[in-house]
Amino acid sequence: MLTTNRYGVGDGLLGLLEPLEVKGLTLRNRIVMPPMQSGRASFAGEVTNRLINFYVSRSIAVGLPIVEHSYIMPTGKIGPKQLGIYSDTLIEGFERLTSAIHNVGAPAVLQITHAGGVANRKVIGTQPAGPSERGKTRGLTVAELLQIADEFALAAERAIKAGFDGIELHGAHGYLLNQFFTPLLNKRNDEYGGSLENRMRFPLLVVQRVKARLGGKLLLYRLGSDDLAPNGTSVEDSVTFAKRLEDSGVDILDISGGMCGSEPKQLKHIKGYFLPQASEIKKAANVPVIGVGGIREAVYADKLVRDGVVDLVAVGRALLKDSKWAEKAVERLGTKAVDV
Ligand SMILES: Cc1cc2nc3c(=O)[nH]c(=O)nc-3n(C[C@H](O)[C@H](O)[C@H](O)COP(=O)(O)O)c2cc1C
Repeated sequence: MLTTNRYGVGDGLLGLLEPLEVKGLTLRNRIVMPPMQSGRASFAGEVTNRLINFYVSRSIAVGLPIVEHSYIMPTGKIGPKQLGIYSDTLIEGFERLTSAIHNVGAPAVLQITHAGGVANRKVIGTQPAGPSERGKTRGLTVAELLQIADEFALAAERAIKAGFDGIELHGAHGYLLNQFFTPLLNKRNDEYGGSLENRMRFPLLVVQRVKARLGGKLLLYRLGSDDLAPNGTSVEDSVTFAKRLEDSGVDILDISGGMCGSEPKQLKHIKGYFLPQASEIKKAANVPVIGVGGIREAVYADKLVRDGVVDLVAVGRALLKDSKWAEKAVERLGTKAVDV
């Protein structure tokens, strides 16, 4: 349900500072802090005070902070100081993180992930596995897929126990869920590979299992919407996938890149570089859509929401560089509205 426009500036459309209610949770504005690995977890993936400070200082005026990608099981780890949610023993540290974020008036969402074929062999101590055998990667068996889907669900349950208001499944940037969706990496010839329907099957299974453990909390999906490569994922396939995600209970769609990653070189100078894909998906979806990519200016972010291009705007590197980016944006846009 959308609330009325406090800063109403005449066009009747809502702006970046407008609250948004999603499934009973009120976001105070449309500014999203996208997940960004901070390198501040311990080697065992635990929350540290440095990590808490990183999020608290940036969440002060953010509507929806999404905490960085956290591995759901040891074989899905990519970096040495990656945050992890693979064991119940980690819940206590996350409780400190969620209450610190809540104390500055923001909800907290945790992104959970498995790196699949791009897991770090040195870090995991075994051969990485993805949808299909490829180079030094082996293909996962169906039994392993079912086990990984259960590990996603257990990780989600831990996150909710730790006080998160929702979780985001990392289905972008070439990680496991994205590896299944993209025809560039998924060469399986069983029911989990080949056709679009089959390539969606594993991510949708994970959505279904996770959803069952969320107890009504928010479920977000970060969708690798475009590989920017011949024969890769196209936005048409992503529109179909987005609708299926929505039908399966995803509450917010977060639209980023696929195998091209989150900051593709060929797009890096374009303001709002994944907005074309996000806007196509928004036209087809009935749930809120997050747009991301090279957004640094509050006025531009505000216009994206007012023009109905997306519902929420994620600002990553600008917020990384200036922890007060959101505070300044709220001040700037609030003043602007008063001036009108
Ligand atoms: C240092 C850094 C770490 C990142 N870590 C993650 C991550 O953990 N999960 C994820 O989905 N994206 C990650 N990203 C991608 C960002 O969420 C975002 O999509 C990207 O930076 C583009 O947005 P921007 O142009 O506003 O920075 C990371 C980006 C940066 C710069």
